Amino acid sequence: MTLLSVENLTVRFETPDGTVNAVNDLNFTLDRGQSLAIVGESGSGKSQTVFSIMGLLAANGRATGRAVLDGQDILNLPPRALNKIRPEKMAMVFQDPMTSLNPYMRLSDQLCEVLIHHRGMSKRDALAAAVRMLDAVRIPEAKTRVHMYPHELSGGMRQRVVIAMALLCEPDLLIADEPTTALDVTVQEQIMDLLASLQRDLDMAMILITHDLGVVASSCRDMLVMYGGQVMEYGKTIDLFEAPSHPYTRGLLSAIPRLDQQSDSLVAIPGNPPNMMAPPSGCPFHPRCSFADAGCSTHNPSLAPYQDRQRACLKSAEELS
Ligand SMILES: Nc1ncnc2c1ncn2[C@@H]1O[C@H](COP(=O)(O)OP(=O)(O)OP(=O)(O)O)[C@@H](O)[C@H]1O
Ligand SMILES: [Mg+2]
Repeated sequence: MTLLSVENLTVRFETPDGTVNAVNDLNFTLDRGQSLAIVGESGSGKSQTVFSIMGLLAANGRATGRAVLDGQDILNLPPRALNKIRPEKMAMVFQDPMTSLNPYMRLSDQLCEVLIHHRGMSKRDALAAAVRMLDAVRIPEAKTRVHMYPHELSGGMRQRVVIAMALLCEPDLLIADEPTTALDVTVQEQIMDLLASLQRDLDMAMILITHDLGVVASSCRDMLVMYGGQVMEYGKTIDLFEAPSHPYTRGLLSAIPRLDQQSDSLVAIPGNPPNMMAPPSGCPFHPRCSFADAGCSTHNPSLAPYQDRQRACLKSAEELS
C-alpha cells in the first residue's frame, strides 16, 4: 500500500544571480514499511527533494507538484498544519545531531517535550517512554543518560538520541539525510545497522540519502538515482545493482571502492556535475556520458518504464552494450 506519492515535484530557488533548478519533475512512490534510497553526486537535488516534502525549504525556495502522504497533499502546507504531521507521521534525522538537539537542555526535557506536546502524556509517563526509546536505540544505561546534556555524550550517542527523538511519535515515515557523515567510520556502520533494524522492526517507511552504496544494497529495497535535479533511474535496488541500465548509474556503481582491488582502480565519473543555474540542454548527463550523441544534447528524455524499472535515457539496450 502506498504511503507517500511524490508527483511532478519541482524545486526552484531564486537568487540574485538567477534561478536554481534544484529538482525537476520528480516522481516516485514509497510503500508503507518500505525503504527507498536516494543516491547521486553532490548537488543532484537529494536534500532539497526531502526538505520540500518536510516543509523545510529555505525562504528563497519554491516547490510545485504534489507530495501525498497517507492521502493528504502535504506540499506547501502552512507551518501549523505541518507541525501536526511532523513528528506524528513523518520525522527527519539530519547529518549533524546538534541540528536537532538543544545544547542547553537535558535530554530528558527535550525528549519529554515531544511526548507531552504531541501525545498529551504526563511528565512521568513521558520520562518512562523516553527511557524506553533510548533503550531501543541501544544507549547503555539509558536511565542515567537521559538526565545528561548533549555535550556529555559522544557524537554517535548523540545521533542515537536524535533517532530516538524522531521515533518517539512512531512516525509512518522516517527521512534520514546522510545521518552518519559527521561520525567515525566504525560508528557510521553501527548507526546504519540501527536504522535498518528499527525500520524493519517498527514497520516504518524510510527514505535514506547516503553516499554509501554498500548500505543502500543491504538496507533499501528501492533506489532512486538522481542527477542534475532529475531521476535517471528508479527501481528495485537489486535490479539496479545487478544490471544498471543508465550510463550514470553504471558510473556511480563502478565508483564503489572495492577491497579486492587496488585503490587506484576506483573509477570516478570524469567531469563535473552541472551548474543548476544554467543546466545543459538535452539530457543533463550528456556532457559526461560516453554514449551521448547529438540527440542527447537537444532532447531531455523523461522517465519511462524500461524492462523491470524506470529510466530516463534515449539509448536502447543495444546501443548501451
Ligand atoms: N537556498 C538555496 N538557494 C539557492 N540554491 C540552493 C539553495 N539550497 C540549495 N541550493 C542548490 O540546490 C541544488 C541541489 O542541492 P541539494 O542540497 O539538494 O544537493 P544534494 O544532492 O543534497 O547534495 P549533497 O550530496 O552535497 O548534500 C544545488 O545546486 C544547491 O546549490
Ligand atoms: Mg544533501
